[in-house]
Amino acid sequence: MITIAVCNQKGGCGKTTTSVNLSSCLASKGYKILLVDMDPQSHASLGVGIDIYKIERSMYNVLINQEIKLEEIICKTEVAGLDIAPATLSLSGVEIDLVNTIGREGVFKGCVNTLPPKYDFMIIDCPPSLSLLTVNALTAAQELLIPLQMQYYPMEGMKQLFKTVDIVTKRLNSNLNILGILPTLYDGRTNLCKDVLSGIKGYFKEKVFETIINDTIKLAEAPSAGKPINIYDAKSKGTEDYFKLTDEVLGRVRQKYGA
Ligand SMILES: Nc1ncnc2c1ncn2[C@@H]1O[C@H](COP(=O)(O)OP(=O)(O)O)[C@@H](O)[C@H]1O
Ligand SMILES: [Mg+2]
Repeated sequence: MITIAVCNQKGGCGKTTTSVNLSSCLASKGYKILLVDMDPQSHASLGVGIDIYKIERSMYNVLINQEIKLEEIICKTEVAGLDIAPATLSLSGVEIDLVNTIGREGVFKGCVNTLPPKYDFMIIDCPPSLSLLTVNALTAAQELLIPLQMQYYPMEGMKQLFKTVDIVTKRLNSNLNILGILPTLYDGRTNLCKDVLSGIKGYFKEKVFETIINDTIKLAEAPSAGKPINIYDAKSKGTEDYFKLTDEVLGRVRQKYGA
């Protein structure tokens, strides 16, 4: 199983949109996917049609109670091959509940280790912060995918993110690798987007995915139906963009893991 954390502490840059749609596109190609909702806002769970008010146990229970196994909270989705470990608002309590736990950064990794080997990929949707939940995701992951909104200010936040990644790599998880930086919410009509894109390509070079996720209304609409984009509108530009990303992710992963 290859674990990819989708992470950027900035809110609204397309983490959840990317986690849900990359997961769904991978599943539709025949891979077995576990999407992990690591955000108390529960947007990834809602985005795949989970009724978060009806579930009894979620990521919160797994992280604070070692007796509840990750496998026990997993729900199926309407996409064949795509399962989710859902979150509810209670997940926000984890930061406080784990404050005195020794090795608290590695709690989620411990949970993942109990999972039966039935998934090809685990995709973790991180919260918009560099909190304990994010550090738990980075500690359990091999690969990091960073969605980056094509605006000027988010570049500043990248320095902070890389500092955190550096600390995690040195102290907690030496296997962590940056799979790629994904330009999101791209509007080709604006010079700002074009300038920012050429700026980040100049700076991060081949770490930037060739795929660009365009700003399109269908991608914003799909969560309201609780469906990934390839189910909501299979012919949309958003579906095309996320399948392109899926192929690029598979290419990068195969090169490294030979899978
Ligand atoms: N490519 C896109 N085109 C249009 N809307 C998008 C796109 N990506 C994300 N959105 C919308 O922007 C908002 C923030 O995206 P989201 O994926 O939830 O970001 P994050 O998880 O980083 O906070 C959501 O309302 C989402 O539907
Ligand atoms: Mg989100």
